[in-house]
Amino acid sequence: QKQDDFALMEQVTRFFQHQLKHHKNSTNAIEYLKQRGLSGEIVKQWEIGYAPAEWDAVLSKFGTSSERVQQLLELKLITQNDNGKRYDFFRDRIMFPIRDRRGRVVGFGGRVLTDGGPKYLNSPETRIFHKGHELFGFYQAKNKLRQLDYVMVVEGYMDVVALSQFEINNATAALGTATTPEHLSLLMRSTSTIVCCYDGDRAGRDAAWRALENALPVLKDGVSMKFLFLPDGEDPDTMVRSVGKEALETLIQQAKPLSHFFFESMLKQHQVGTPEGKLALKTAVKPLIEKVLGDNQRALLEEELAKHTGEYDRFRLQQDIRLAQSKS
Ligand code: CTP
Ligand code: MN
Ligand code: MN
Ligand code: MN
Ligand code: MN
Repeated sequence: QKQDDFALMEQVTRFFQHQLKHHKNSTNAIEYLKQRGLSGEIVKQWEIGYAPAEWDAVLSKFGTSSERVQQLLELKLITQNDNGKRYDFFRDRIMFPIRDRRGRVVGFGGRVLTDGGPKYLNSPETRIFHKGHELFGFYQAKNKLRQLDYVMVVEGYMDVVALSQFEINNATAALGTATTPEHLSLLMRSTSTIVCCYDGDRAGRDAAWRALENALPVLKDGVSMKFLFLPDGEDPDTMVRSVGKEALETLIQQAKPLSHFFFESMLKQHQVGTPEGKLALKTAVKPLIEKVLGDNQRALLEEELAKHTGEYDRFRLQQDIRLAQSKS
């Protein structure tokens, strides 16, 4: 059954690619990709396609038997309204196939050509697609690079693709969801350094903090997590196009270590100029530090907290934390 699902997803990927090249109304899609600065080569490399502006392109091509129609429904490639009318899920969108760790197409992301309506539509959860643990571009990155010195986590499909056009081949994107602990522990199995580089906007900064929180319970010793904050209004796609590969790589080298970002954020919320402020900082920070997986990683944060509160007696602090852990 699943083998058959993967085979069908592969065929649909080819179909979308074929539509981009040959459909009589694909000019806008081709123009759009050009305008985004994507070369033909990169479009081919990422198997980017086009879902035509029709209600039944996929349905009529692949729904050749009632079993097939059922399978299309289950893979959410088509959908059904209350009257039982069936139609294509993706219409008039640029299509990005999402491959899992073993290289199988498990879902799609589809982008509109004009800025209106939801910008991206992703495949809903299916028996082969679980958003929380898929990472767009990770399979390609592992395939391309023998060794992943670091992995860059970005927000969007276009970020991954644009970076690869500039020969930064180690970027990967969570699929419109937060970067989950599952994503992070998966990445930590392949690399010792994760650099989160989200958009330079409010959403991106919030996403960075959420990624930090999600990292704590999987943050083992020996891995490091860093954060690169882009100027307001930029994302990795626009950034690499404006400053180029070398300048971006320099910024990546200078990314903020987790501990810096952590205390910088915390100290913004809790002013340590007063004893009350110090207490508030400690109260806020301790439960987070308790979550940290690696002993050395945790000790490092404990030490930083002690510095900021003026309590150099790290051992007392550690005792407090151990006590709290044994209670929970
Ligand atoms: N996203 C989504 N649904 C939306 C908007 C965003 O699933 N309606 C997800 C997509 O995976 C998208 C990511 O969140 O790639 C980041 O969103 P955003 O920064 O708005 O989009 P970009 O990736 O920058 O898209 P583009 O450059 O194509 O405008
Ligand atoms: Mn899966
Ligand atoms: Mn954004
Ligand atoms: Mn973008
Ligand atoms: Mn963006």
